[in-house]
Amino acid sequence: MKFATKLMVLGAVLAGGIAFAEGANDPDVKARQELMGTFGGAMKALGDMAGGKVAYDAAAAEAAKKALVDGSAGIEAAFKNNATDPAGKAKPEVWTAWDDFVAKAGDLNTAAGALDVTSAESIGAGMGGIGGACKACHTAYKAS
Ligand code: HEC
Repeated sequence: MKFATKLMVLGAVLAGGIAFAEGANDPDVKARQELMGTFGGAMKALGDMAGGKVAYDAAAAEAAKKALVDGSAGIEAAFKNNATDPAGKAKPEVWTAWDDFVAKAGDLNTAAGALDVTSAESIGAGMGGIGGACKACHTAYKAS
């Protein structure tokens, strides 16, 4: 590899690393990404139990459900400010189609509230609906 090419590769790696470490600076964007991050964690915990990757744990399952129910009730407030950040992935349509966005947050709240967490099987049965609610909103309102 030529020296100049090596430098370019190193530069790209460093720039990528810095961008990743910093993430969003805007406090609103940061907060809503963190809220979404808790959803990711809850879905992983539930998915691991449903898939038998970890043993069923009633308290952990309840906690994950609560994170989805309470968190989805907070989506509207978390996105109310049309804040922007270079690291933000929310599409402008969030605010131009606000009522639909809020309705999709409500769909997640309904699906999460209906999740039966009394066994790994019942979690597995309800996860499709929850994942569908995440996906419906991301497809419309989250840039990839
Ligand atoms: C009502 C709309 C909506 C629903 C429902 C929704 N999301 Fe999101 N999600 C978004 C938007 C918009 C973003 C981009 C936020 C940003 O970067 O400002 C996002 C971003 C994310 C991110 C990336 C966060 C980051 O650090 O950049 C994860 C992970 C995520 N969502 C997981 C989930 C999961 C899991 C669910 C379902 C349990 C879910 N979301 C439901 C709208 C939604």
